Parts: sequence; C-alpha cells; structure tokens
Amino acid sequence: MATKATPAKKAPAAPAPRVAAAKKAASSNGKADTAKAPQAADIDAPVRPVDRNQPQVQPILNQQRNAPAPLQKYGTVAQRLPIGLSEQVRQESVTMLNQMLADTITLRDMYKKHHWQVVGPTFYQLHLLYDKHYEEQSELVDTIAERIQILGGVAVAMAADVAELTSIPRPPKDREEAPVQVSRLLEAHQIMLKNCHDFAKRADDSGDDGTNDLIVSDVMRTNEMQVWFVSEHVVDTPLAKAD
Ligand SMILES: [Fe+2]
Repeated sequence: MATKATPAKKAPAAPAPRVAAAKKAASSNGKADTAKAPQAADIDAPVRPVDRNQPQVQPILNQQRNAPAPLQKYGTVAQRLPIGLSEQVRQESVTMLNQMLADTITLRDMYKKHHWQVVGPTFYQLHLLYDKHYEEQSELVDTIAERIQILGGVAVAMAADVAELTSIPRPPKDREEAPVQVSRLLEAHQIMLKNCHDFAKRADDSGDDGTNDLIVSDVMRTNEMQVWFVSEHVVDTPLAKAD
C-alpha cells in the first residue's frame, strides 16, 4: 500500500459524467450554481469537478437526486440465497413478514406514545412498563426485518410506508386516559396474535421452519406475555379495602 498517487499532468478539461449529472440535477431543482456562494458545510452545494492536483477528501453529495434504478424493488425476492427454500416459499414468507413488521413497528410506536402521555395514579408503573414493552417490540422489529432480508426480500422501513401497510387502527394524537391506552394496546396485540397463528401455520405448511420458529418463539411469546402484563391493569379490583 506504499504506492504514491501520481499527480495529473494537466487539469481535467471537463467534469466526469456522474459529476456533470449531479450538477445538472442540482440546477434543475432550482439550485443553480449562481443562486448563492457554495460553502463547505452546505449539503446543497453543487458537486464540483474533480481537480486531481488537490487532495480529494470531499464527499460526493446529492447523488440521490439522480439515482439510478434501485438495486431491488420492494415486494420482490430477487436474491437467490442458498438457504434451501424455493423462491415461491420465500416470496410468501416475505409478504407475511412485512405485514408483521408494519404491525410491530406500529405497536412499538404506540407504546412510546403511551409512555410519554400516560397520566394518573398508575403513572409510574405504566410509564416504566410501556417503555419496557417498547424495547421488546423494538427487538422484534429488528428480528423480523432481518428475517425478511435473509429470505431475499426487502423490509418495509419508513413511517409513511408502515402507515399504509399496517392493520392496526391509528390512535388519535390526543392524550387519553390510562384505561383507554390499555384497551388500544390490547386491541393491537390481538391483531398481532391472530396474524401470528395464521402466519405460523402457513410458514409451517410451506416448509419455512425458520420463519415459523421466529413467529412462534419470538413474536407470539413476547406479545402474549405483554398482553398479560397490560391487561391486568384494567381489572377493576379494590385498592385499599376489600369489597
Ligand atoms: Fe422515556
């Protein structure tokens, strides 16, 4: 690695094609070179031609504006990973798992909403319990998403896409009473768990044992346990004096 960079004999006459394309894209977005003086820290600065006589430490910015076709389209299982499952089986599992992923992301975020907004005599314990469940759902999100990638699919990720896909009803932005929060969470868990039983059976039938195990051992067990801890809070029992 001791090779020294040989200085160019003369300055380049024209920018490289990629640089030119990025410049064109920047101009077409109304950010022409003359609009303002570009600064080093300005992420909107147009890409400059490469000068081989200068040290090259500048990142090439704004490449998303003229991006080529995506490597893989969402909804496909383009990669032929040698994991002993046919494309048809992997496609079916990826579709199920993306549904489960969107619902899990939604449930995870509902726990954080309630963690912040909870109020009343049970504030402290619900505040802590909601955050514990949020962390556990976060782990499930990563496990499900990585299973999708293992199967050669593309995991749904961004909030807007999750909102389109999820089957869990959207809660209001407002602050709600603790029993209403709990009821919303239990409804979401119920949707998750019904899907768990359906998806686990289908994965078993198709021979995707890894997906079946993930759904039963991770997603189903975690959701069942959380249902128990949350639902006991809406049992109406005496607090100080027995009835
Ligand atoms: Fe917090």
